Amino acid sequence: MQVLLINGSPHQKGSTYTALSEVARQLEAEGVTANLQHMGSKPIRPCIGCFKCFETGYCVYKDDPANEFVDLLEAADGLIVGSPVYYAGPNGALTCLLDRMFFGKSGKYALKPAASVAVLRRGGASATFDRLNKYFTISSMPVVSSSYWNSVHGTNPDEVVQDLEGMQVMRNLARNMAWLLKCIEAGRGTVPLPEAEPKVMTNFIR
Ligand SMILES: Cc1cc2nc3c(=O)[nH]c(=O)nc-3n(C[C@H](O)[C@H](O)[C@H](O)COP(=O)(O)O)c2cc1C
Repeated sequence: MQVLLINGSPHQKGSTYTALSEVARQLEAEGVTANLQHMGSKPIRPCIGCFKCFETGYCVYKDDPANEFVDLLEAADGLIVGSPVYYAGPNGALTCLLDRMFFGKSGKYALKPAASVAVLRRGGASATFDRLNKYFTISSMPVVSSSYWNSVHGTNPDEVVQDLEGMQVMRNLARNMAWLLKCIEAGRGTVPLPEAEPKVMTNFIR
């Protein structure tokens, strides 16, 4: 079993990395492989709404890591996305990446458990957490919870590790993710998958 963790900060070893590393350590302790990947700090294109990915399963733009992350998530059993809070929301570069990872491709990720983590100095954690969870709840991905709304406070790694409750929330998130993955594995071939009805699209135009 393997979980993909995406560090959605431009800082490779900053606060978000520190929070996700605590999740990764606990996942490994539970016998689950943690694949912690940095999104990088190079420009990431926004989605241009061309819908080509609905035909190919990949984004037309190949000059940033979006398609690599599509493959990494397809190969993973679960997903955890971490973001620094920027103006009470996720990092814009991360939402560009996630828009292009999910749009037209989310069928590949259905039933993979997922969670988000907000990392911040002071305010906007809950709005960031909600925004990131939207990618999962539209994609039939069960959202894994913890013992609080997943956030850790600090402006740098030294401060992050002093948020003892936040770090515990990270470990509990990892424990719950590992437990759910093991339940899914135990039920494979025994518990039938939910029926997938043909998709209905109602655009409110009559
Ligand atoms: C552009 C920008 C906007 C920010 N906005 C917020 C904010 O709204 N609320 C907050 O608490 N911290 C805010 N911060 C602080 C970061 O969330 C915080 O320093 C975090 O630890 C950075 O994580 P990182 O080291 O993984 O990048 C902002 C930082 C930047 C660069």
